[in-house]
Amino acid sequence: MGRLTFKTVIFMEKLLSLGRLPKSFRTRGAIAPSSYRLCVELACLATNADHILELGAGTGAVTRALSRLVGVRSFHAVELQEKLAHDLKLKFPGVHVHNCSADVALDRYPPHGSVAVVSSLPFRSLPGGIRNSIVKSVLRFLLASPQSRFIQFTYGFREPFAVGSEFQWKRVKWIFANLPPACIWVLTKTELAHE
Ligand SMILES: C[S@@+](CC[C@H](N)C(=O)[O-])C[C@H]1O[C@@H](n2cnc3c(N)ncnc32)[C@H](O)[C@@H]1O
Repeated sequence: MGRLTFKTVIFMEKLLSLGRLPKSFRTRGAIAPSSYRLCVELACLATNADHILELGAGTGAVTRALSRLVGVRSFHAVELQEKLAHDLKLKFPGVHVHNCSADVALDRYPPHGSVAVVSSLPFRSLPGGIRNSIVKSVLRFLLASPQSRFIQFTYGFREPFAVGSEFQWKRVKWIFANLPPACIWVLTKTELAHE
């Protein structure tokens, strides 16, 4: 990583951990849409899943890459902001778009087959209450559906959130062609990680 991008990552990490960002940024969690490279890498990790559940679909950059995957039996996308959710419905008529919070969508999702949960949620900057609620829902989801995986990117060096020993994070790769550079992580139930 070049010196400038390295510094950018540390700076972002500090701001996010100190909560020194405007509330709108803390929910949005990004200064630019996800890059093409990042979206393609996220979609690759969702290959072979029976179903896709995208969390924090935003303007649809990741949605577009995911919608190109073949053999997916269902694709649900979740976005909290009403206007963005409305636009996603128009842009992606084949995707079931839900205008609700990610924890609500996860709790409602019936466990069936393998699900790739692809998240752009800004865990490091989300307000504590909602963050904890989403983390609990993600872990409950993986316990109920152990063949599923949770795919997340962050702008920091640490895993997106702490988990107990029944779950395992795997750091997949850094994507430098993104502003700021992003690191992709995959969370699974531990048994699967050892197979
Ligand atoms: C990093 S941005 C979206 C990135 C998206 N991949 C893109 O490039 O446009 C994160 C998104 O998560 C949404 N979000 C934040 N909190 C959420 C929640 N609790 N449930 C669902 N979506 C949420 C925000 O509204 C925002 O659109």
